[in-house]
Amino acid sequence: MNIKQRMLELIQIINQANFDYHTLDRPTITDYEYDSMMKELISLEEQYPEYKENDSPTEKIGGSILSSFVKVEHAVPMMSLSNVFNADELRSFDDKIKKAVGIYSFVTELKIDGLAVSLTYEKGLFVRAATRGNGTTGEDVTSNAKTIKSLPLKLNQPIDIEVRGEIYMPHKSFKEVNEQRLANDEALFANPRNAAAGTIRQLDPKVVAKRNLDLYAYTIVDANKYVSTQKEALELLEHLGFRVNPNYQLVFGINTLIEQINNYDILRKTLPYDTDGVVIKVNEFELYGTIGYTSKFPKWATAYKFQAEQVETLLKDITFQIGRTGVVTPVAELEPVFISGSTVARATLHNEDYVLEKDIRIGDTVLVHKAGEIIPEVIEVVLSKRTNQTPFKMLEKCPVCDSDLIRKAGEADHYCSNPECPGRNINSLIHFASRVAMDIDTLGEKVVETLHDLGYLTRIPDIYKLKEYSIELTDLPGFGDKKVYKLINAIEASKTQSFDKLLFGLGIKHVGAKVAKSLVKHFPTMDLLMQATIEELNSIPDIGEMIAESIVSYFQDIHHVEMIKELQDLGLNMTYLKGEQIEHAFNGKTFVLTGKLNIYTRDQASDLIEKLGGKVSSSVSVKTDYVVAGEDAGSKLKKANELNVKVIDEETFRTMVDGLY
Ligand code: IVH
Repeated sequence: MNIKQRMLELIQIINQANFDYHTLDRPTITDYEYDSMMKELISLEEQYPEYKENDSPTEKIGGSILSSFVKVEHAVPMMSLSNVFNADELRSFDDKIKKAVGIYSFVTELKIDGLAVSLTYEKGLFVRAATRGNGTTGEDVTSNAKTIKSLPLKLNQPIDIEVRGEIYMPHKSFKEVNEQRLANDEALFANPRNAAAGTIRQLDPKVVAKRNLDLYAYTIVDANKYVSTQKEALELLEHLGFRVNPNYQLVFGINTLIEQINNYDILRKTLPYDTDGVVIKVNEFELYGTIGYTSKFPKWATAYKFQAEQVETLLKDITFQIGRTGVVTPVAELEPVFISGSTVARATLHNEDYVLEKDIRIGDTVLVHKAGEIIPEVIEVVLSKRTNQTPFKMLEKCPVCDSDLIRKAGEADHYCSNPECPGRNINSLIHFASRVAMDIDTLGEKVVETLHDLGYLTRIPDIYKLKEYSIELTDLPGFGDKKVYKLINAIEASKTQSFDKLLFGLGIKHVGAKVAKSLVKHFPTMDLLMQATIEELNSIPDIGEMIAESIVSYFQDIHHVEMIKELQDLGLNMTYLKGEQIEHAFNGKTFVLTGKLNIYTRDQASDLIEKLGGKVSSSVSVKTDYVVAGEDAGSKLKKANELNVKVIDEETFRTMVDGLY
């Protein structure tokens, strides 16, 4: 088989695997097989760009960064739908249709809560995705849409067709995106719809690829050219290779329709994505002209909107929680209730102003929902059920150390005034050791809590003094020799952690992981950073005035300066350059791994190479810099020798890598 045939074969197999996994939800090959074929294809496309096909699955990884989105005029406008909110309104929608035409049926579909897109295919190949925009003009989001795994790049028939559907973010991806944003100190997306809309307008398709958007197709433009009913249109979409939501139904008569809507309301609470209603469409296309349109909506379709789930419960108490930045937040302790798929017993009350504005009092009956189906929140008090509750008063003293709480001018938050407050320290210790910061994996939340309660850990530098107590620690229940050995080793190893992670670990307000990375690039040592002025900080691209002020004010506090000096004396890395050199040590170098490796697994070796800036290719060519040959290496080793490519054994590879650290 020649190269071109192999590439076509890989495209065919991977596209089929994508379809089986993402559209049918029925995986047919292992992750390992998928990854290795994908790697092979990527490498072949790099070597033979002239053979790259438009429907190659490598498009799903995300193309190059755009500078803006191009406007697209919709040949057929993207209309929106009228809404109905109850059975009566639904009956009157049905009555109007009955008056216009005689016999008809409905198709009901879940209304997916995302954003509408129009997808254009020419001769069966995907050419463009456009957002709805104002209905007549949208934006070209082709590169981003390509990253959606279930979006077919090639249809099962070579036809020209425009398909419309909903791009949405499943709950799982939404949770992951928000967790990442929390770690980066970035504003959270309020709900999956906002997250999907924000993501599709990202200029970097690689970011989009990581966010795992998905798509359901629901309409064909000028569908009557191909089929005569909506049900057939959905079947055709499925046949062409689109993902179609399986919960559609054909319905006769208004009474069955109303019954069905209630079933949908039960079903939707079990689904792993947001829906905000049911779309009801007349099934027969030939009736659309007679039923007609208003200027905005078709009269042959409507959206039945569900009530967002809101539940009443008793507010048993208001407690206070202290975060790692020292902010003290009121928290609602609720009589547990089941909302949108899980039991809720606590909900944030944000800050003093939020509680006072809504006049929330202990003993009130309150209405609770999940913001974005995820974060429990008290919406309002059910005043009719209030008896004689006393108004809320914000705490004046820290709930942990009893120091004064202060509220800075212009801010809504209250802070504990004691920088050494143990309540905030335990959180700052947990944060410091966490995976996203210093990554001391044996020092998890539970271990920190135990050692904190026993007095071994109060401040961050105490972590590095734990080794002085190794013997005592091994006697603690649940610790033992092995665990203490591992713990101390992990702590020692973290001293060489990159400077940006240390900076993030300090928990400076507004300095998330991303900001920390930008900071160290401009101020590569702690000393330089500590001397930076607000103006200097503010001149860095990602750093606004608020962040700059927060950094300067952090370093003005003598407790912080002393703590950093201590960490410096304990031997922690506070320089960026070293890490940067390591990161780029293999820049531009291409490696091929062959034969059986003993020291590393294939994946570990590939990860190391990539982490150090190199590339791993599956085939040897003149462009290969190193072939790492394990046991029983065969044809690739032979080819390397023929082409005079440098061959190293695994041990030499290890020495190269070790030498860098
Ligand atoms: S049909 C003219 N079907 O709801 C008919 N829309 O307000 C156009 N949506 O903009 C839409 N799921 O973003 C249709 N199964 C579905 C839908 C759906 C979600 C969204 C779409 C549209 C909005 C209508």
